[in-house]
Amino acid sequence: STDQTKHHSEDAVLNETGLRKGLTSYGDQGFSLFLRKAFIKGAGYTDTALDRPVIGIANTGSSYNPCHGNAPQLIEAVKRGVLLAGGLPMDFPTISIHESFAAPTSMYLRNLMSMDTEEMIRAQPMDAVVLIGGCDKTVPAQLMGAASAGIPAIQLITGSMLTGSHRGERVGACTDCRRYWGKFRAGEIDAQETANVNNQLVASVGTCSVMGTASTMACIAEALGMTVPGGASPPAVTSDRIRIAEATGARAVQMARDRLTIDKILTPAAFENAMRVLLSIGGSTNGIVHLAAIAGRVGLEIDMQALDRMGRGTPVLLDLKPSGQHYMEDFHKAGGMAALFRELKPLLRLDALTVTGRTLGQEIESAGPGFAQDVIRPIDNPIYPQGGIAVLSGNLAPGCAIIKQSAADPKLMEHEGRAVVFENAEDLVNRIDLDDLDVTPEDVLVLKNIGPKGAPGMPEAGYIPIPLKLARAGVKDMVRISDGRMSGTAFGTIVLHVTPESAVGGPLAQVRNGDRIRLSVRNREISLLVSDEELVQRARANVLIEPTAERGYRKLFLQTVTQADKGVDFDFLRAPQITGKTPRS
Ligand code: FES
Ligand code: MG
Repeated sequence: STDQTKHHSEDAVLNETGLRKGLTSYGDQGFSLFLRKAFIKGAGYTDTALDRPVIGIANTGSSYNPCHGNAPQLIEAVKRGVLLAGGLPMDFPTISIHESFAAPTSMYLRNLMSMDTEEMIRAQPMDAVVLIGGCDKTVPAQLMGAASAGIPAIQLITGSMLTGSHRGERVGACTDCRRYWGKFRAGEIDAQETANVNNQLVASVGTCSVMGTASTMACIAEALGMTVPGGASPPAVTSDRIRIAEATGARAVQMARDRLTIDKILTPAAFENAMRVLLSIGGSTNGIVHLAAIAGRVGLEIDMQALDRMGRGTPVLLDLKPSGQHYMEDFHKAGGMAALFRELKPLLRLDALTVTGRTLGQEIESAGPGFAQDVIRPIDNPIYPQGGIAVLSGNLAPGCAIIKQSAADPKLMEHEGRAVVFENAEDLVNRIDLDDLDVTPEDVLVLKNIGPKGAPGMPEAGYIPIPLKLARAGVKDMVRISDGRMSGTAFGTIVLHVTPESAVGGPLAQVRNGDRIRLSVRNREISLLVSDEELVQRARANVLIEPTAERGYRKLFLQTVTQADKGVDFDFLRAPQITGKTPRS
């Protein structure tokens, strides 16, 4: 009977791995495995091929997603890595989201992609999963889904696009998209030149070439310890990127063998490192929302006040657009994240475990010495002395708001002005360019109803355009405030993520034309200079009708989406909060 016990316990282990993983038995496990093997053999596999760790590869290639246009090559290289390490690679599709082809917004669909990712990881037999993502919402969606699924997971970034050239000037999506469109609006370039530059802005497949949300999330993924070392920076079409893919596949097999599950990587220390990196790279404000969502999936909460304190002690070191000059391929040539980590080392939690099974500190050590370059500044000569992002609060944003100060006009960061209010995105479109719009450069543009529920899906409409008549007069920046988001590739003195949003009755809903608004980044203040009594009276007169939907995903979205500080995740997808706030304050 000792033999039988041993036999049973071996069975128990085997039942959890390889093709046996997640077997639905309906009472006859043997038959279920028999059936499963019959079908996979229909694809031409031998028993030998099947008897090993199964590595799922989430394939997000799509004709609608040029940011993932290298997915076929990446999958081939991941498979090679998996096979070389003795595993069985199994790629499978999930939905894919591209920023420009996802209506009403990509953010609206991020949680859907996270659910798809989570459930396909759960549903199919796999001992580890390689997540291939790159475009803005895909990496957060995959990390959210994998965090909830709980198995060993490793992120593979698709990589940035190459830069192009227009009349001798280097260009890349999409900070330069905005700049050239701004020139066109201001009448500085004609339709022909606009068409010409359109051919150059996206010079290859891959993600946006500046420090937008995609690049930010790539750096965050590496900072979280979720990629192999050097996984963030290689451009999509380089051999470095393909080698990273092969290494990722091989690493996934070892993670499966070691049962290196994602909860061991996504710890408070990892999120602290991610926040430091976000601040030091002048990263996208969207990164905060995504980090809050990922943290929420493992029972953690991002403490916004702690983020602000960290920001005061974290200089911006990366000289990339939109805060600086260079592009992602320059960051890669300058040494990528290893070089950044080396400079940031005194501020990092070196004990954080990574997918390599080693700590971040050990990885920094083994990366070796740096070399002279001008993209990643030394910590004593930063491009910007404080973190790129400041957290604001005040009676206009009791639950906080944020501003990317590294991309703002220093002259406007202490400013008081008259509110020019747009009730929603449509109102903005209808009136922003009218010749008789009552607006001066000193005014504060306010846009309501573009928050998580308002639009819905919290569009990147927070980058309110300069009114046409002011743009033509040469005005480049104004103070702008909304409950929406802004593209990581945008710049300006723009207050975002005002929480609670106006669609659920936040104070932003009560702002009227002509009210005075005060922004003080120094004091971390965003205030509506209207008395409390007056605001209460306005709220009473202003009947709140929260947005609803009759059916489908939109109904689910509107009923369960959380505010920006909770990551705009669905409430039922968050894990119970078990470990308190991060970073530790
Ligand atoms: Fe995909 Fe910018 S549109 S990364
Ligand atoms: Mg973007």
